[in-house]
Amino acid sequence: MASGPDKRGPKKQKLGTRLTHAGRDRKLTQGGVNPVVQRASTVIVESASKLFEPGGWTYGRHGTATHEALKQALCEIEGAEHCLLAPSGLMACTIPFLAFAEAGGHVLLTDSAYGPTRRFADRMLARWACETTYFDPTIGAGIADLIRPNTKLVFAESPGSMTFEVSDAPALAAAARAAGVVSVMDNTWSAGVFHKPLDLGFDLSVQANTKYVSGGADALNGAIHLNDEKLYGKLKDAAADLGVNVAPDDAYAVLRGARSLALRMAKHEASALEVARWLDQHPKVARVLHPALETDPGHALWKRDFTGSSGLFGIELPPVPTAKVHAFLDALTLFGLGFSYGGFESLIIHCDPQLKRTASTPDLSGPLIRISVGLEDPTDLIADLAQALDQI
Ligand SMILES: Cc1ncc(COP(=O)(O)O)c(C=O)c1O
Repeated sequence: MASGPDKRGPKKQKLGTRLTHAGRDRKLTQGGVNPVVQRASTVIVESASKLFEPGGWTYGRHGTATHEALKQALCEIEGAEHCLLAPSGLMACTIPFLAFAEAGGHVLLTDSAYGPTRRFADRMLARWACETTYFDPTIGAGIADLIRPNTKLVFAESPGSMTFEVSDAPALAAAARAAGVVSVMDNTWSAGVFHKPLDLGFDLSVQANTKYVSGGADALNGAIHLNDEKLYGKLKDAAADLGVNVAPDDAYAVLRGARSLALRMAKHEASALEVARWLDQHPKVARVLHPALETDPGHALWKRDFTGSSGLFGIELPPVPTAKVHAFLDALTLFGLGFSYGGFESLIIHCDPQLKRTASTPDLSGPLIRISVGLEDPTDLIADLAQALDQI
């Protein structure tokens, strides 16, 4: 099956329009508004000559009409020609390592990476004798000094999904490209809506669709987006070797979420900014970590390379005992204590027990809290935070 953007939609149309119409060819919808949920392990081919036809659709693991429709929509979000689906955001992060790293090789991974991506490098890549060097997310063009002859991959995540440092994406991509190293950006924070790593020179942009793209907190999914045909071939080979597949029902759920992504992101952005600005002036908050705030150290890069901000940001509390942090979190009534973000419901977590750094030290002297602002009215969220902060 071909992937790639829905060729009917001129690129100049806005994202909301393109996402409304992507993946709705009649052959995918069979006349309905939505594509069919095609549950197929077995595919019956039309004739014996088609059994081994290159590129032919011959088995469910290679995807169905539902997957094809989702891929077309995801390509519209990231501005990509190709998209590879994965059953989770984490697997969308790990497949590039499996496709491009090798024994005796070396990879560069941002020190602010999502914890399980880091764990994969420390545990699985290490077992395969592939070395990982962590880099300071603010290293910029200095990454060139860390690239070795055996470096296979530069993996960035910007902003870091707990500490929110913004990386100089064009500088990282340019250094990797100059050395012939594949570059990957985990672009989950921006939902792909506000940041376009492929346009900034990255080879691959990864999205945990579990978060904003699905938006429903009810599906796990990930995707790798790219333009390069050869790299796409290698990623597909890795996915085929691993037996990677996505359930059609999950693909459908993510696609349903994607239809309203542009609209939801505008609301997440506005509400999170309102909440963040309120927190920024609160006496019991030491600092707000949100790249769209003028005072944030990553603001200039964010302004240059992003067109907006999502609903995820951090706050640093003054140095207080953990019992006070727990009292604050437990007093909240609208924020769920949950390890995710991007859904319609607001979430909050205490980050410190998960922070692992080896190449840089985040500028923090008090507990770090991560907030995901959902689609509730921000005035209600602020009222909830106000009463809970009284616990500190
Ligand atoms: C930045 C980032 N990348 C990847 C993932 C992994 O996504 P999933 O939970 O779908 O495996 C997450 C999940 O929290 C994340 O925050």
